[in-house]
Amino acid sequence: MGEQADLPVPGDDELREFEELAIAVALEAGRLIVDERPPDLGVASTKSSATDVVTVMDERAQALIRARLHHARPQDGFLGEEEPGTTGRSRVTWVVDPIDGTVNYLYGIPAYAVSVAAVVGDPTTPGAWRPVAGAVVNPVSGQLFHARLGGGAKLRIVDGGAARTLRTAEPPELGQALAGTGFGYEAGRRAWQGRVLTEVLPHVRDIRRIGSAALDICSVALGSLDCYFERGLNPWDLAAAWLVLTEAGGLFTGLDGGRPDPSLVVGAAAPLHGELSELVRRAVLAVGDE
Ligand code: IPD
Ligand code: CA
Ligand code: CA
Repeated sequence: MGEQADLPVPGDDELREFEELAIAVALEAGRLIVDERPPDLGVASTKSSATDVVTVMDERAQALIRARLHHARPQDGFLGEEEPGTTGRSRVTWVVDPIDGTVNYLYGIPAYAVSVAAVVGDPTTPGAWRPVAGAVVNPVSGQLFHARLGGGAKLRIVDGGAARTLRTAEPPELGQALAGTGFGYEAGRRAWQGRVLTEVLPHVRDIRRIGSAALDICSVALGSLDCYFERGLNPWDLAAAWLVLTEAGGLFTGLDGGRPDPSLVVGAAAPLHGELSELVRRAVLAVGDE
């Protein structure tokens, strides 16, 4: 697929504004979830299944992000994980995961992130949108990934000095590649993902299931993972990290090479992206339908 010329591209001043806003609200929400994490953090409710939890802090973080974005950009739409979205009067929608890696957050495992992205198109329709600016922050490690369309991808350590530009390195061959992946919350989906994993595992260096898709995808931009694949991601899981990876020079697509969609996404630098896509395609054929 080409550069998605059918979707409008905001001007550079606007892109800079979006990137700065995404950074500011992601950092503020990151501080909130760390500083105000209740000592007895519990599960507020469940979503798709009993393992798909939402904590009171997911809801508080999303409310904070939504309020800040609405104050700064009342004309824009909003799509967050924890409540129904709204369509705006502009061509921009903010796509937000207030805590990506909620199970890690619940257990105190320091691999979770706030993800905030400005997107154009319709983020509720697979293939009909793309991110134009965004930020992903791990508030425990202080890693802040951010990008804007055409502006490159950056990593900054919060309170730790200047940002550095991310460029994907020459990737290893598939057999030497460290692959990130994840699992959905529904039992049948997980069983299928386990079968696909069984087919993939013998052909890669190893697998990591870190527990935050946004951090996994940014890790490919950084080089702490070589590649990534997963079925069933939602727009909020991937919107900001997709742009971080592509602005770093990597590829992030559906299995057919088009825009990411819920059936499967694959991220890596070329040529590993093609090799992994082919391997996952063969694995899916071998295991059959979900
Ligand atoms: C989940 C995480 C996980 C991925 C799941 C996502 P959540 O998001 O990103 O790594 O494997 O597919 O749903 O529920 O922690 O926001
Ligand atoms: Ca998520
Ligand atoms: Ca979440």
